Amino acid sequence: MSLTGSPIVLGIESSCDEMAAAVVRDGGEILASTVHGQFEVHSPYGGVVPELASRDHVRAISSVVESALAEARIGLGDLDGIAVTAGPGLIGSLLVGLSFAKALAYSQGLPFVGVHHLVGHLVAAELASRMTPNGVDATEPLEPPYVGLVVSGGHTALYRVPAAGAPTPLGETRDDAAGEAFDKVAKLLGLPFPGGPAISKLAEQGDPRAVELPRPMRGREGLDFSYSGLKTAVSLAVARQGGLAALSDSAKANLAASFEAVVVESLVERTLRAARQEGVDRIAVVGGVAANGRLRREMQAAAARDGRRAIFPPMSLCTDNAVMIAAAGTRLLRRGVRDDLSLEAFSRVPIGETPWRARGGDGMQT
Ligand code: KG4
Ligand code: ZN
Repeated sequence: MSLTGSPIVLGIESSCDEMAAAVVRDGGEILASTVHGQFEVHSPYGGVVPELASRDHVRAISSVVESALAEARIGLGDLDGIAVTAGPGLIGSLLVGLSFAKALAYSQGLPFVGVHHLVGHLVAAELASRMTPNGVDATEPLEPPYVGLVVSGGHTALYRVPAAGAPTPLGETRDDAAGEAFDKVAKLLGLPFPGGPAISKLAEQGDPRAVELPRPMRGREGLDFSYSGLKTAVSLAVARQGGLAALSDSAKANLAASFEAVVVESLVERTLRAARQEGVDRIAVVGGVAANGRLRREMQAAAARDGRRAIFPPMSLCTDNAVMIAAAGTRLLRRGVRDDLSLEAFSRVPIGETPWRARGGDGMQT
C-alpha cells in the first residue's frame, strides 16, 4: 500500500545530540518542527559525550514529539506514517528515536520507515529551495542533478545527487569532520563548545594570512578532505608562541582567522572541483558548518565565477532536524517502501548501501 493524497508524516531524528520531531504534510509543508539541543549537557566536555546524549534523548523524546504534534494541532490519529533516522550516527542515540518510532507505529497501526540521515540532509536542501523565498538564493528550486556538500560536526562529504537513482559518494574526510576540527581548534584556543560559532566570531578580528598553516590535501587528486593535520599545525603554532596562556587576544584572533580561511578554502576548492568533474551547475551546502559566514561568501563567489550556483538552506534546515527525515520518509512511504519492527540502527552505513535501497529507494526519489 502506498500513501496517497497529502499524507501527514511524523519525523523523528536523534542521531547525535539533537532530539527532533517534525510533522510534514505532503512531503514539504512543515506543520511543526521541534528541536531539543543538548548544549548544557556537553559543553563542560568540549564535545559530544555519546552516553550522555542517549540518556538525555530518553528524557526528552516524549515531550519533543508531543510538542511537535501540539504545534501542528493534530493528534496521533491524524498521522499517516512515521519516519525515523536509522543511521548513520551514535548508536545509543539512534536507538532511542528508532525504538520510540517503532512503538508508536505499532501501537497506532501506522506504516513506518527508516531514513538515512545524510539523505535527509540532501532532501532538506531541495525542500528549502522550494519553500523559502528568503533562502540565500531561491530564484529557482534545487533539482537534481547537483553536488551536495554535507559539512557538520560528524560529516564532511560530497555527493552527486542524480536525477534518478541513489546519491553517489564522491569524497569524504579521511579523518576529522570540518565541524569537529572547528571544535577541537576552539578547545586549543580556550574557546567554548561548540567551537564553530566561537572561532568565526573571533576570526572577524584576525588576519587570515597571519599564520602560515598547511593546506589540507593540497595538490592531491580526488575529492577527499583531511583536517587532523591542520588541527595539529594549530596546536604547534600555539606551542611555538609560548602556549595558550601566553597568547594575546590578537594572536588568538589571527590563529582563528588563519585556520578558518584554510578550512573554507579546502571546502570550496573540493566542492567546485566536484561540480566541474560531474558537469553540474548546482551545489547544495548543508550541515552545521554551513552557518559559517566565510564559507557562504566564498562558496557563492567561487560558484558564481564558475557559472554555477551554491544554495545554502536556512539554518533550521541545515543543522540536524526532523523535517528532513519526515520529508525523505514521505518519499519512501509514497513509493510503498516500509520497514518492520526488525529494523536496526546503523552507526555507519554508506549512503548508497542502505538496507532501504534494496527495497526500492533510499528516499531521494519523489
Ligand atoms: O549539523 P550540526 O548542528 O550537528 C552535527 O554535527 O550533526 O553541526 C554542528 C557543527 C559543530 O561542529 C559546530 O562547531 C559547527 O557545526 N558550526 C560551525 C559554525 N556553526 C556551527 N562551524 C563553523 N562556523 C560556524 N559559524
Ligand atoms: Zn546531521
